[in-house]
Amino acid sequence: MKKKLLSVLLAAGMMASLLVGCTAGGSGNKKVGVAMPTKDLQRWNQDGANMESQLKAAGYDVDLQYASNDINTQVTQIENMITSGCDVLVIASIDGDSLGTVLEQAKQKNIPVIAYDRLIMNSDAVTYYATFDNYMVGTKQGQYIEEQLGLKEGKGPYNMEIFTGDPGDNNARFFYGGAMDVLNPYIENGQIVVPSGQIDFDTVATANWASDAAQSRMEAIISSNYANGTQLDAVLCSNDSTAFGVTNALVANYTGAYPIITGQDCDIANVKNMLAGKQSMSIFKDTRTLASKTVEMVDAILKGTKAPVNDEETYNNGVKVVPSYLCEPVFADVNNYEELLIKSGYYKAEDLQ
Ligand code: BGC
Repeated sequence: MKKKLLSVLLAAGMMASLLVGCTAGGSGNKKVGVAMPTKDLQRWNQDGANMESQLKAAGYDVDLQYASNDINTQVTQIENMITSGCDVLVIASIDGDSLGTVLEQAKQKNIPVIAYDRLIMNSDAVTYYATFDNYMVGTKQGQYIEEQLGLKEGKGPYNMEIFTGDPGDNNARFFYGGAMDVLNPYIENGQIVVPSGQIDFDTVATANWASDAAQSRMEAIISSNYANGTQLDAVLCSNDSTAFGVTNALVANYTGAYPIITGQDCDIANVKNMLAGKQSMSIFKDTRTLASKTVEMVDAILKGTKAPVNDEETYNNGVKVVPSYLCEPVFADVNNYEELLIKSGYYKAEDLQ
């Protein structure tokens, strides 16, 4: 009798745990919500695709959403992920400061949140942060300009202009900070001159990282400062979408010797520009590596083990220091792109033709 009762209870328990596990549309798998900012930029398409395929390979169901760079759309998508039973959220925010309220709901339901690539600010609901070393990205861009212009050897003065990213993206401040920590001493001692006078973060920020906005600003800078034949020697661009806009403006409106232009992401259009001599370098951030680290974090959270982190001090989001994993960004130019981008299988040679 006792034995029978036990087996009934065991069966009921198994049913209950199966039902609890059935959050993902009946498959029995755990479900991960992946919120990406926009399909407009190549990298986020790759990030989303890599996350989806790697999560599926690890046995998870995936709800992948893109928000067309619209903050309200992203908030609604995250709300839906919470109400539809996602077990973990992975979020590349559009504006790091706009998710506090929706993430309160995640916290109340004990749904862990991984900030993906961009830190989510002012929320204690953020469990982990997976990204590339953003400060190092900026440092490498600054050092490239330093080396190419021979600034350490005392050369100059050279003319430089500066373009960084969206002020709502915490990364933009790290990219700008890393580069300017290298370049500021040369601005101060006069080896670098910024003829437009546009130097501080808010003035050189580019809303939504939009190429159009960078292009218009560069056009205005050319017509006010370089139309008289003044030589432009370098443009510090924090990423490829801003570099793309700057390149368009220069090709159409600037007649002097072509300047050094930095970038980040190794987007196909920008690698093509590098091969055509219209952009000098980019930073390669292998989105496959970031996805696999993030999947390891998801796995660890859901299995109750320790997630991989290698930085527990840099990323304070205003209310807590978020334990982070920083992947290493790599310098890319015409000399190493084949090794980095083609031999590694990131692109096919024909993608770059
Ligand atoms: C990312 C960059 C990207 C930029 C624009 C940043 O947060 O780290 O890789 O170029 O957003 O999307």
